[in-house]
Amino acid sequence: MIRQRRKVIYLLGFMGSGKSTVGNLLARALGWPLIDLDTVIEAGQGLSIREIFENSGEPFFRQVEHAALTAASQAEPAVIALGGGTYAQPSNVSLIREAGGTTVWLDCPPDLLRARCEGMEHRPLFRDEQAFTQLFAERLPYYRLADFRISTEGRKPEEVVEQILSLRVF
Ligand code: S3P
Repeated sequence: MIRQRRKVIYLLGFMGSGKSTVGNLLARALGWPLIDLDTVIEAGQGLSIREIFENSGEPFFRQVEHAALTAASQAEPAVIALGGGTYAQPSNVSLIREAGGTTVWLDCPPDLLRARCEGMEHRPLFRDEQAFTQLFAERLPYYRLADFRISTEGRKPEEVVEQILSLRVF
């Protein structure tokens, strides 16, 4: 018997790739709830992402993120917008694979990502050019594990949503 794919879409990609914006539009188009992982974490901790990093450091943030992802992965149907680093943690890749569902990487050119992230105070991991380049290179191999890659280059968020819907994986 062929097991039906779970009606869960995980959006992943580097910070600034449009996960939250696309997630919102996609959830609306499908009539599914959106779970924005960063928002869930902020609500749960009563702190902004930046404050969590500043007060408790990245390892603590990753623990909280993993717990939030575990809880979010119970939902169905759902569009789940991950944080930029979520899918770059092997334990999260395993968790998502075990939960089932579809992973979609929003692939955006590094120059555009860098331009979008600059000046964004709420992104604690975006420090400088060198840190950006290193983080980007470290994460690519993980992002490439996604079931689907959608290039966002030259596409409006609505067009990215159309591309995702045309995958017809459900
Ligand atoms: C992070 C990206 C952020 C947020 C946190 C860590 C990362 O999410 O989860 O600052 O490790 O790249 P966005 O990708 O939504 O900015």
